[in-house]
Amino acid sequence: MKVEKTIYSRIKNINFNNISFGKYYSDHMFSSEFKNGKWINSIIKPFGKILLSPISLVFHYGQAVFEGMKAYKDKDNKVFLFRPKENFKRINKSAIRLEMPPIPEDIFMNGLRKLIDIDRDWIPKSYGKSLYIRPFLIATSTILSAKPSNDYMFIIVSTPVDSYYNNPLKVKIEDKYSRSTKGGVGFTKAAGNYASSFYPTRIANNEGFDQILWTDSYTHTKIEELGTMNVIFWFKDKLITPKANDRILRGITCNSILSIAKKEKIIVEERNLNVKEIIEGIKKGELKEAFGCGTAAVINFFKTINYKGNNFYLPDLPKSDRLSLLLKKKLLDIQHNLSEDTFGWRILLKKNI
Ligand SMILES: Cc1ncc(COP(=O)(O)O)c(C=O)c1O
Repeated sequence: MKVEKTIYSRIKNINFNNISFGKYYSDHMFSSEFKNGKWINSIIKPFGKILLSPISLVFHYGQAVFEGMKAYKDKDNKVFLFRPKENFKRINKSAIRLEMPPIPEDIFMNGLRKLIDIDRDWIPKSYGKSLYIRPFLIATSTILSAKPSNDYMFIIVSTPVDSYYNNPLKVKIEDKYSRSTKGGVGFTKAAGNYASSFYPTRIANNEGFDQILWTDSYTHTKIEELGTMNVIFWFKDKLITPKANDRILRGITCNSILSIAKKEKIIVEERNLNVKEIIEGIKKGELKEAFGCGTAAVINFFKTINYKGNNFYLPDLPKSDRLSLLLKKKLLDIQHNLSEDTFGWRILLKKNI
């Protein structure tokens, strides 16, 4: 892999005590091209603009998939990636569904490791802070026909992120719009899934809600996801999450949280979850907590759930009684090398690889 380092690092201009999500990008980026059936030109180079023709297929037919993952530092400045293989597998699942070439493991993993090693100074050190990493694959053939592209570009960029301050969420159960449908691409991280969610999300925001609780597109009676997060409900003595299907993007955070919960001997159920059950659960006082989980925010718990114009209030538990916060801490402790990683999720990034 070719490496062209920047002669001017921008790191001196960054105030690491005040970083809003996605504002600053690290000094370098990785890119690799797919041409004539081969991956070529893998390179680490200074972060900068890319030159694409206006008729590149990504702009017209939306062949674009991406990932979101993080690198963490411990108190001794050791750097760790969290379950990167899962992101590698998921981007290829997305690519295959969008008729794009899977990325070879060595290109994904070596590009990722080398880039984060070179830009390791960009990883903020404090608890909860991290470097958010965005790998993405786009179609670059220049022919305006509605067919899969022959050429592609795979790029990785990264951005330092603060620990996410979570306000309890006011969420709305969506009963008109859908983010995905049976047989569709909901289980992928296709860029178009996000574009199509913006309009209903803005409507919900205008109505005073923070996020949409998506339901199934046929009946709007089964809970699926929360905005761009998975969702978990704490009912009496169990954690329940909607069972994975082709409409749900199965998250690495949700999977990790459920594994930690099982280890703590908490009962975990993955099954269909009806809106009715949630509302009844709140009315009967059986639903203790509901929370979204994903790489960016880690865990975000709800304050209210709105269904067909009615607000339902979740118990106002003290922080110390919140299972969501306990699980969040256990996950962050593993990510920051503060507790033993019995799952083997933490991958140490050696220096100068
Ligand atoms: C639609 C959607 N669901 C769930 C998730 C959570 O996935 P993960 O925990 O892997 O970040 C994300 C975020 O990536 C997402 O965009």
